This record gives sequence, structure tokens and C-alpha cells, in this order.
Amino acid sequence: MNTLEIIEKYKIIPVAAIENVKDAVPLAKALIQGGLPVAEITFRTDAAAESISAITAECPEMLAGAGTVVNKAQAKQALECGAKFLVSPGFSPSIAKYAQKKEIPLFPGVCTPTDIMAAMEFDLKVLKFFPASCYGGLSTIKALRGPFPGIRFIPTGGINASNMAEYLAYPGVAAVGGSWMVKKELISEGRFDEIERLAREAVNTVI
Ligand code: 3PG
Repeated sequence: MNTLEIIEKYKIIPVAAIENVKDAVPLAKALIQGGLPVAEITFRTDAAAESISAITAECPEMLAGAGTVVNKAQAKQALECGAKFLVSPGFSPSIAKYAQKKEIPLFPGVCTPTDIMAAMEFDLKVLKFFPASCYGGLSTIKALRGPFPGIRFIPTGGINASNMAEYLAYPGVAAVGGSWMVKKELISEGRFDEIERLAREAVNTVI
């Protein structure tokens, strides 16, 4: 299975901001135990690159990608650490060009027709819809699918255990992303059992 197929199989991308690299592998193991071997480690913290390296080395069964990639230098760093996919909050032509050259899947954030058309110029067909809840959620995705029937979305931002099923029931949604099962405080307090439980709950919600 390629990266997109794995994401479409699990349908959930946990979005984690890891403050301390020591938490990276326990976090990955908790998600794997919970049945969700996928994670987006965001470059919002200084520990992101090292965390991706640690997870890649110690948990090869996990599909670990890099999130909040906001420039080409971060994209390059993410690849060097072994990231299997890149997620950016918005659309950047320089990141898109780099991802295309390196043949690494990129899911750039979009929320308007203009963003989508910019991403389409790079032949990108699966796009993060961000921040989903602020930009009209599922009804906006449905409206955007009118002019762009070939685009599928990964809504992220405000997704949780109680609304994810509604998003996933729509064929234009490839997967959902969110931090609800890997909240910062759960990670920093070492509550990996709770992370595993929430991951399992999310997996069981996938239809
Ligand atoms: C992201 O970076 O994709 C978002 O912060 C995730 O959104 P959430 O925290 O509302 O789940």
C-alpha cells in the first residue's frame, strides 16, 4: 500500500505536537496499540524533527508524517528525518514543487476555490481542508466539490470523536485529521493509556 492508501484505510490522521522527544516513541506505541499506526508530527515544536526520526527508527510500522510544514527548509528537514508525508496549513508553491521533485505525498491546507486551483496546478488531488469547523465544515466541502469533483479533502480543525463519522460518510472526504486523541496535555502528562483508548475509540468510529 502506498501512503495515501494507508491514510484512506485508517481514515484518521492524529495531529500531535510533541514538546519533548522522549514522548515520541511512547506516543507512537500508544497509537499503534490503539489500532491507529498513523501520525502527523507537527513542526510547531522544536522536538518535531527528532521525534519523527525516533518514531521512524523504533516504530517502522507507523506511518509518520510531518505537519505544520510552512517552508521548503522544513520540508527538506522532514524528509531527512524519514517523514512519509507532508502536511502544510496552507498552500505553498515552493513546498509543492519540492514535494513533487522528491515524490513525497503532500496534503496542503486549502479553504477557498483559489487555494484549490493553486494546488491543482501541481496535480494535487487530496487536500487538507483547514480549519474545517471555522470555514463551514461539511457543507463547504460539499459546495467545493461542485466545481472540483476530482478533489478529495482531509478536513482538520475542530474534528473530534463525535463529528468525525459525519465527515467520513461523505465520499469527498478521504480522511479526517485532528488532535483530539493526542492532546498536548495527554502527551506531557504521560497519559499514553488514555491516548491508546482514544485512538481505539476513533478507529471504532470509522465507518
Ligand atoms: C492542525 O494543525 O491540523 C490542527 O491544529 C488540528 O486541529 P485540531 O487541534 O482542532 O484537531
